[in-house]
Amino acid sequence: MAAKKRPSTAAPATVNQPESSINTEKPKSSDSSPEPPIAPAKVYLIFKISLIFLIPYFYLIFYHYDIESELRRSILINAIVSLIGFFVTVTMIPVASKYVLRRNLFGYDINKKGTPQGSVKVPESLGIIVGAVFLVVAILFQYFNFTADSNWLVEYNAALSSICFMMLLGFVDDVLDVPWRVKLLLPSIAALPLLMAYAGHTTIIIPKPLVSYVGLEILDLGCIYKLYMWLLAIFCTNSINIHAGINGLEVGQTVVIAAAILIHNIMQIGASADPEYKLAHAFSIYLVQPMLATSLALLSYNWYPSSVFVGDTFTYFAGMTMAVAGILGHFSETLLIFFLPQVLNFLLSVPQLAGIVPCPRHRLPKFDPKTGLLTGTNDGTLVNLFLRQLGRMSEQSLCVTLLVFQAMCCGFCFLLRWLLTGWYK
Ligand code: UD1
Ligand code: MG
Repeated sequence: MAAKKRPSTAAPATVNQPESSINTEKPKSSDSSPEPPIAPAKVYLIFKISLIFLIPYFYLIFYHYDIESELRRSILINAIVSLIGFFVTVTMIPVASKYVLRRNLFGYDINKKGTPQGSVKVPESLGIIVGAVFLVVAILFQYFNFTADSNWLVEYNAALSSICFMMLLGFVDDVLDVPWRVKLLLPSIAALPLLMAYAGHTTIIIPKPLVSYVGLEILDLGCIYKLYMWLLAIFCTNSINIHAGINGLEVGQTVVIAAAILIHNIMQIGASADPEYKLAHAFSIYLVQPMLATSLALLSYNWYPSSVFVGDTFTYFAGMTMAVAGILGHFSETLLIFFLPQVLNFLLSVPQLAGIVPCPRHRLPKFDPKTGLLTGTNDGTLVNLFLRQLGRMSEQSLCVTLLVFQAMCCGFCFLLRWLLTGWYK
């Protein structure tokens, strides 16, 4: 969030302004801008990290599974348009950074407070570029895949409306800094287009061990199913936003979960013979591929040391996109297991979110400028828990550890699904 509205965080005393101050400065011309350009993108690092996912992913698509050529073609076209989206995002972020800085939309890096880097104005809300490029890619892709009378088109566009609405509210939050209890409600508004347009089934398959107790194999939940969809969207968006505050963590967790979702989608498409089921998972791929590509572009600037911050625009956008993919792809239970670290972080946060324990504006670790290490505080977050359990760490090591934990939870989900196949459903 823009530091001008957050004097109590990490902003040095010289830039403190009243909490309610409004930026009345005229934008300066680009020639007279005093801000130095942001550090270049770490594209090579991102490329190396991406290979860990891309090699098994394309192996599954092209060799391991016998996927129909039509479907494979659509997935490939989507991947190519997403790749173009990656390069556009990498190019646009430095340009947009200049504009957001001119409008005083910046933050101070709290985990570098007391060092020269801690007083650098870091451009905020760059998630707006990711979201905008994502929307263009997702809208253009319809031309290559859907016929005009496709039923999917309605849900696809409702999904895009919810994602777009969520981005708007996230950006509003970044600019206006709404109180965090109000923040929690924003996704409930943004999910409305999807809920209103949803005409898919509202049934759930009862797990086999429970069938004898319930007396049914399939249960129609009706309106309760929509309530579940609504709560899932609220949870996914907020849970990404509150597992944050370390360079690279917001985007890193999104990238890991998105990679797991894509592998899951391909495995389900490859193993199923039901065309409806395959379409549902392909639908998720068409949303998650562009999100992954544009998020990787943002990560190349947000990785430690961050030269841009992502803002609530990004965290809300990413959470809503994954929620929508899980809902319309009908794999919300799997999605929740991919979200295990976020669930743990949420459970740890409940006392502070519920107001039982005081909740400061930022629940971040304590930074020691002499050693450059972070120490866990008593705030109820996974970040602090890891530091308390594993000892003091640098910001980068902490982020890598948390992302490895995220990847392990996704791996655990695949293992669980494999163990329970045939027995559970
Ligand atoms: C949520 C968390 C808050 C956490 C914040 C970090 C809850 C209830 N809220 O608040 O505890 O501190 O996210 O994003 O759990 N920042 C850094 N380094 C980073 C990323 C962000 O210092 O790598 C700081 C910057 O000052 C930036 C600010 O966090 O300007 C952004 O905070 P914002 O996203 O607005 O916080 P919330 O989402 O409200
Ligand atoms: Mg945030």
